Amino acid sequence: MAQKIQGCEDLYGDQMRLWQHAVAVARSIFDTFGFEMIETPALEQVATFVHGIGESSDVVRKEMFRVYSAALLDGVMQHGSEDHLKAKQRMALRPEGTAGVVRACVEHNFIQGGANDTRLWYAEAMFRGERPQKGRLRQFHQIGVEWLAAPDPAADAECIMMLMKFYTTMGIPLDKLQLRINSMGDTECRPAYRALVQAYIKKHADSMCEDCLERAEINPLRVFDCKNETCQAIMQDAPLYRDHLCDACAEHYVQTKHFLDQLHLSYIEDPTLVRGLDYYTRTVFEVECPDAGVGAIGGGGRYDNLVELEGGHPCCGLGWALGFERVALALAALNVEPPAPSFPFVYVAYTSQQERMYAFSVSNMLRDSHIRCESSYQMRSLKAQFKQADKYNARYCVVIGEAEVAANEVTLRDMQTHEQERVALDELAAKLKARM
Ligand code: HAM
Repeated sequence: MAQKIQGCEDLYGDQMRLWQHAVAVARSIFDTFGFEMIETPALEQVATFVHGIGESSDVVRKEMFRVYSAALLDGVMQHGSEDHLKAKQRMALRPEGTAGVVRACVEHNFIQGGANDTRLWYAEAMFRGERPQKGRLRQFHQIGVEWLAAPDPAADAECIMMLMKFYTTMGIPLDKLQLRINSMGDTECRPAYRALVQAYIKKHADSMCEDCLERAEINPLRVFDCKNETCQAIMQDAPLYRDHLCDACAEHYVQTKHFLDQLHLSYIEDPTLVRGLDYYTRTVFEVECPDAGVGAIGGGGRYDNLVELEGGHPCCGLGWALGFERVALALAALNVEPPAPSFPFVYVAYTSQQERMYAFSVSNMLRDSHIRCESSYQMRSLKAQFKQADKYNARYCVVIGEAEVAANEVTLRDMQTHEQERVALDELAAKLKARM
């Protein structure tokens, strides 16, 4: 039997209803903030991700799924490398949405020199070659927002509020969420701070793990994220960025917190929060639901250099993405019921095959009036059809026999009270709609 790939889930039933509900909730909230939906291709040039997410990030170095057509793969095998491929032949499945959305904004000139701010959102599958475990998949779904040309710290706070609003509307109360924030500075203050952390790591090199020593060379700030207890203990005394921000970044951070306070959103300042993607500047944040125990259920931040890295004119940006599967686990941990399946309002039953054509027309007539109805095409007895109507939780049953066909009527049966009445066919839809 063919099987799905580990870490790639089929989306159906309760989980599919929850996904559709999540997208609907997102749409209704984001609409009030003036965000429009965008869909970018799942396949992008590798360069799009390398420029944005960063060559040194784990996502690019270890997790990105590279894609070759069969013909290209033959060539790569023959050459023993992909050096002969053109940039546009080097493709990858998107590991996240930001780089692709920013690429699209640059390519279609949405930003127009920053004259207008650009507000976009997406709900898409992402792909990362990770070791699958609870809440960590190879194909997962993100809902995310990207907001370009909004430099004001008020935008940072508003953006975070959109995320928190999503969780609470889905049924996760604020007191079950933990919002952590930090500032990652900018190109002005980052080099000096990076050098400080690098020097600190080198001073403790004898006690640190191999991974951290490697990270110290290419991306020392990532060492704050190491799960090794000894490394964590050492990094507790490392220099913290908040003490080394330049004046402009420090002011932006203070203002962002001021706006968050204004919104009465509580947050934890976590000076060790560094995020796994290299494009961040200034504000970064992550949200956890400790009861779910699946790590971050969402995260994001500001990326004031990304548009330029993707080939556009300088323009700031910010955004976030939430992991749908982790949100689903959080909802389950908090016993929030998934949306119930919707049932047919009407079940159309008929007594024999002679009435089948009449029943067929009645069903379609009701659907034309936007009434959800079902009928059996399994040649069941009337008793079996009633049973099925009960199983489907149908509110009404339309019963059609020889007499009904002759009179151009139906019998309408209330499945709760079991009361029945004869209704003229041309009055049926209006009567049912009035009771919906
Ligand atoms: P990220 O933190 O890499 O950020 O991912 C956002 C969320 O996606 C995570 O908080 C998590 O809930 C979920 N997630 C990540 N990896 C997995 C996985 N393997 N399995 C299941 N869920 C996962 C970004 O992707 C940025 N693009 C967010 C952003 C948008 N920043 C600015 N704009």
